[in-house]
Amino acid sequence: MAEFYDVIVVGSGIAGLSFALKVAEAGHRIAVITKKNSAESNTNYAQGGIAAVTSKKDEVNMHVADTLVSGDGLCDESAVREILRDGAASIDQLTERGVAFTQLEDGRASLGKEGGHTKRRIFHVQDVTGKVIEEALVKSIEESPNIDNFEHHFAIELITSSKLCKHEGRKLDEEDRVIGLYALNTQNDQVETFAASAVLLATGGIGQVYQFTTNPFIATGDGIAMAYRAGVEVRNMEFIQFHPTAFYSKDSSERFLISEAVRGEGAILRNMKGEAFMEKYDARKELAPRDVVARAIDSEMKETGARHLWLDARPIPKKKLHEHFPNIYEHCAKQGIIMESDMIPIVPAAHYLCGGIKTDLNAQTSLSGLYACGEVASTGLHGANRLASNSLLEAVVLANRGALSVEKYLSIAKGEVTVIPDWIGGNVRDSDERIVLLHNWDEVKRTMWDYVGIVRTSKRLERARTRIQTLDKEINDYYWNFKVDESLLELRNLILVAGLIIDCALQRKESRGLHFITDYPEKNDAPCDTKVRRKL
Ligand code: FAD
Ligand code: SIN
Repeated sequence: MAEFYDVIVVGSGIAGLSFALKVAEAGHRIAVITKKNSAESNTNYAQGGIAAVTSKKDEVNMHVADTLVSGDGLCDESAVREILRDGAASIDQLTERGVAFTQLEDGRASLGKEGGHTKRRIFHVQDVTGKVIEEALVKSIEESPNIDNFEHHFAIELITSSKLCKHEGRKLDEEDRVIGLYALNTQNDQVETFAASAVLLATGGIGQVYQFTTNPFIATGDGIAMAYRAGVEVRNMEFIQFHPTAFYSKDSSERFLISEAVRGEGAILRNMKGEAFMEKYDARKELAPRDVVARAIDSEMKETGARHLWLDARPIPKKKLHEHFPNIYEHCAKQGIIMESDMIPIVPAAHYLCGGIKTDLNAQTSLSGLYACGEVASTGLHGANRLASNSLLEAVVLANRGALSVEKYLSIAKGEVTVIPDWIGGNVRDSDERIVLLHNWDEVKRTMWDYVGIVRTSKRLERARTRIQTLDKEINDYYWNFKVDESLLELRNLILVAGLIIDCALQRKESRGLHFITDYPEKNDAPCDTKVRRKL
């Protein structure tokens, strides 16, 4: 039997929870479905902060200009203006929900600086901004009487009216719309059915597609994969942002982020000879946009065969290091690096997806009743390269706009109940095959890292495509024949998303922003989006 809600929200990061709270405040019944505990999300690890214009020395127009420069000609300018305009209101909203942003001694906000920003405008809570935001939002949803929170529930597949008609052998005689989803309860291994008038996908990013990433394990692109399988439009997947400075460890594939805010306070990038090198690449040096800095590091590493470079935070006063970066300081110290006296070994790592499910500025996707916001969505704000600290801001703004839009949708669609059949799945588990699956996880991640990284070629992209297609066939055979579990479902999504990244990368016959391809080193005169959409 299906559980019925007005809206199902998939994901409990900043986007999902901000949206759920708004819609619940308007009196609707919400289910928040999240695959781990509520706090586990990219949001929880955000360090630098959230960009917003509040200072008299700054203007929204300047924030707009910086975002457009960073986006390298592919931002939707009206989206940029609309979203950034709500920066100050978003900070107020988070403050009201209990986030105490760091203040200066005189009570004014402590504003950080990051790459591509011409002004100090990053609100932060030391270097644990995301953790504090996540804690405040989780507390608020736990207190909301209209929200049921389903932790350890893995959303598998959207249910749409067209799929239901196909299943029942009927013709669809209305516009296709979402009517619910199936989710695996990972604590009892049962697949549960959730019916709803509307669904929000807020499942975050895709960092785990790559061997080295700053993202936690949850970032497997599930929302994009689900949307794509339901025929929803997805775009610009080639724009993967590699963060320039993740802590390098030779013994682990973990890549702990060293926030760009550290460079904002004066840290310098150095090669293995100890030389500062950014001036060779860009006049903005360490504070150039991320695509520029990551490519410069990649180029220096390739030139010398170095396994990492250095970030020198020694110019930053000790007091500042301790007050602004206690979390980073502690992580480095645990690895034997004392920031005021040692340089930090760094490498780039996959960090953020700038493309995703195409939405309008009301978080609406191309499928009726389906909304998306946060990192999973592509609104046009980021273009070909996201400006630092614009992601948390976009998530809050689009959650609010999406909430208003879903309320209008519910005024028409609320209460339309469709009987949804229960999930029918295989019952067999095959341990030999599972070992193959583990290898496949490795293979996807390594293929993407080696062939679809910071600098690309058509030949390597083609090679990657062939490998991913083989893996896709294998995983789908497995999916249809065996009992599903979380690892299998994630791998299936990861492989699909890897394929979409490669498809988009092959479509773009130019170098722009985060997509640098040596066969086409120049920009096209007329920039356009790449698109992938499954024909149903
Ligand atoms: P997330 O916060 O990732 O939440 C996704 C949620 O969906 C999670 O709860 C997850 O468990 C759930 N989920 C996923 N798949 C499923 C499924 N199948 N079923 C059920 N639940 C599912 N941006 C900034 O603007 N400023 C920063 O300072 C900053 N620092 C960052 C530092 C790090 C280390 C990282 C990794 C990212 C950083 N970013 C930063 C980016 C930013 O944190 C993310 O883009 C943003 O938090 C995404 O929020 P979200 O709500 O869209 O997704
Ligand atoms: C950072 O703190 O460097 C990450 C900021 C971001 O990804 O926006």
